[in-house]
Amino acid sequence: MKQSLTDLHTHNLPEFDDGAKSLDIALQMLRMQKKSGVDRVALTPHYYPLREELQPFLERRQRAYDMLLSRWDGETMPDLRLGAEVRYSPLLADMNLRALTIGESDYLLLELSDTETPTHIEEVLKRMLQQGITPILAHVERCYYFRQMPDRLFDLIAMGALAQVTAKALVDRKDQKFAAACIKNGNAQIIASDIHDSSEGKACIGNFSAKLNEGWILRGEEFAKAVWENNLPPAFTIKPITKTLFGYG
Ligand SMILES: [Fe+2]
Repeated sequence: MKQSLTDLHTHNLPEFDDGAKSLDIALQMLRMQKKSGVDRVALTPHYYPLREELQPFLERRQRAYDMLLSRWDGETMPDLRLGAEVRYSPLLADMNLRALTIGESDYLLLELSDTETPTHIEEVLKRMLQQGITPILAHVERCYYFRQMPDRLFDLIAMGALAQVTAKALVDRKDQKFAAACIKNGNAQIIASDIHDSSEGKACIGNFSAKLNEGWILRGEEFAKAVWENNLPPAFTIKPITKTLFGYG
């Protein structure tokens, strides 16, 4: 059965970050995504609050979006919404983050460092949640902080955050065990591609249905669709991830 999927983490915006290097590549990526069953794509370029002021970023993002829309075709390409992959910084606590949410919804894609311990993360997340913004922690399988101390991820999800794992991590030898444990224990809810280039056809989430437990893709889509439509997420239960001798349980 052909699925209709939502990809909430992509680097499709042309000539913007380390994603699509040209407009042609961006269009190729969109066609590839559509063909795989992805009907909705959030454009989430990197935003680094320590490197760039918000306003110039938003203007730059709009220009890249306009360029993409000039050649966008609804027949062969997914529907699009603007968003950002916002790098975590304690500075975020004092910023107005609305313009960075996915399609101006109440959900924000938040990236933690792969290697560093995020300082004051609980306080910053609490401030976001008080502003009515639900952070979606990007590719949590990559964060050393969570792999070493899975309880910290559990605590943030228990506070009200959501989390995303990368589809290819669920089939990758290095990341598979932790990524799967995140999904199985309800510590991550959303599966996305984090696609950067047209050579990454295999990264399209629609191409993973055959390789992954189909229930995971369909359940992930329920959460992704809720974000897309700015609804509350479906109810879910969470259990702490345990570190075992050979991986995670
Ligand atoms: Fe990304």
